[in-house]
Parts: sequence; C-alpha cells; structure tokens
Amino acid sequence: MKHLISPLDLSVTELEEILTLAEEIINEPKKYSNVCNGKKIATLFYEPSTRTRLSFEAAMLNLGGSVLGFSSADSSSAAKGESVADTIRVISSYADICAMRHPKEGAPLVAANYSSIPVINAGDGGHNHPTQTLTDLLTIKNLKGRLNNLTVGFCGDLKFGRTVHSLINALVRYDNINFVLISPNELKIPDYLRKEVIEENNVPYKEVKVLEQVMPELDILYMTRVQKERFFNEEDYIRLKDSFILDAKKMELAKEDMLVMHPLPRVNEIATEVDSDHRAVYFKQAEYGVYVRMALIMKLLEVTGC
Ligand code: CP
Repeated sequence: MKHLISPLDLSVTELEEILTLAEEIINEPKKYSNVCNGKKIATLFYEPSTRTRLSFEAAMLNLGGSVLGFSSADSSSAAKGESVADTIRVISSYADICAMRHPKEGAPLVAANYSSIPVINAGDGGHNHPTQTLTDLLTIKNLKGRLNNLTVGFCGDLKFGRTVHSLINALVRYDNINFVLISPNELKIPDYLRKEVIEENNVPYKEVKVLEQVMPELDILYMTRVQKERFFNEEDYIRLKDSFILDAKKMELAKEDMLVMHPLPRVNEIATEVDSDHRAVYFKQAEYGVYVRMALIMKLLEVTGC
C-alpha cells in the first residue's frame, strides 16, 4: 500500500503519470465519473482549510465515491485527547483512503504507520503539502508547457510556507531550474532545505529582499501568505505581514508570459487589481487541484478509467 506523505514519495515517473491522468480527466471527465463507485474518502482536518478539504471531497464525488470526515480538531475526539494513531486505526475500518491535515509536522506520517488504508498528507505544520505541489506542477505544466528550463521566484514567507518547501523538493528533480528566493531575513527558507535540497542538487539560486529587483528574470512568481498561525509572537507577525505586496505597477516589470501563482488563501500580498492580469493564474491553479486529486485518489486506490 502506498501513502503520500512527502512529495518525494512519488518518483518523477509516478508524478508524470498522475499529471497525465489529471490531464485526461480534464479532457474527458465523464469517463471517470463512476470509477470510485462504493469507495469512501475520509477527510481528517485538524486545521482550517477551504481548498484542500473541499477539493478532495469534490474529487471523490466526481469519481462516483462518497466522503466523510471532520473539518476541525474541536469537532472530533481529538478534543477529548484521542491520539492520531488511535483515530486512524478506527477510520481505517470506515473509509478506503484518507486525507489528513494537522498542525504538527509528522502527524500524517504517524497516521500512515498505524493505517490500513492509504494516507495522504494534506498539509502538516510548516513542513510539507504534497498535493498542493501536484496542483502547482499541473498548473505549470499546463500553462507553461514544461517543467524544466524555468526561473522560479518564491516570495514571502519561505520559512513557514509548507507549499514552498514541497514545491522546491519537487522542482529540483527537473533540468535547468533556477530559484530566486525573495523574503525578509526572518522568513528565509530553512537551512536544511537550502543545504540538503537546493545545494545538494546543484540548483542555482539567489536570495534577495527586493521583489522589483528580480521581477524581469522570472518565469514564475510564486507568492505566499505570511503564515500568522506559525508565529510565536504577534508583534513579529504584524511587522512582517506586509513585507511584499504585488500590485499592477510591479507587474509592469515582469515578462509578458510570467505566471503569478499562489496556493491561496491570499491576505494582502497580491492586490486585487492583479486578478484581472492575464498572468495571474491562482484561481485556475485552485481549479486544477480537483483534477490532480482525482488522479491521485485513482492511483492510490489502483483504480483505472472505464
Ligand atoms: N492551498 C491550501 O492549502 O488552501 P487551504 O488552506 O484553503 O486548504
């Protein structure tokens, strides 16, 4: 049985298979509308979510399956002190597959160790968010036409932003990738990621503090929210929260075909005036999340199209 805990749990070949299947689903959704008849997904969300939980549920419903689950720790027996290990043992007899979001890094891995159904990490603390990575890769592949030969700028909270950590892990496996890391000193990417992932894979990168300075060289600008919920003190959050605000004036500096991506939710980091720019693809990106999760569920349940 296979779980998806880290983006590296999928080989490049498996990843390509999922992206290809997602594209087939986009082109012919009806063909897949009953492939998960009788199957159930449990969405175990110990932390708030709009896109990830609802896109997992939409994905399973689109495949003809059913959904069950909880949307906050408070509404589950975690509030009474139940462990993740005990919860997943029980859920294993209620559902065929589960997606788990948890504020503690490693919680979905613990669940996988006790589970008899596939466990998908739907975001664990500031660590990983592998299905957002699948969404991001599908977006890049479909809208740029390639996953190699790209200069990708990550901007904002690179310290706590788990979507950034996961996407960096995935992109280093492709050819001719350059990273531009744009953040204040306090929100730089963790050292382990710089040393053990970026440098270890010989991926060229630079770290800057001014977005305008690097806009013209980017093929992709991946904006992120400053992760208020991961800060230890509110003063620091208030000081850093508006470090970068992408607006129409800054967009004038970008290439005509640069993509602006964002995992969402957005707070202030992208002015709403950017939404109408043809390069702003963050809502399309959220839409791709359903298709790629459909493909992932099919792969993990070893279900094929009709
Ligand atoms: N991108 C993402 O994980 O969004 P949610 O927190 O709304 O699930």
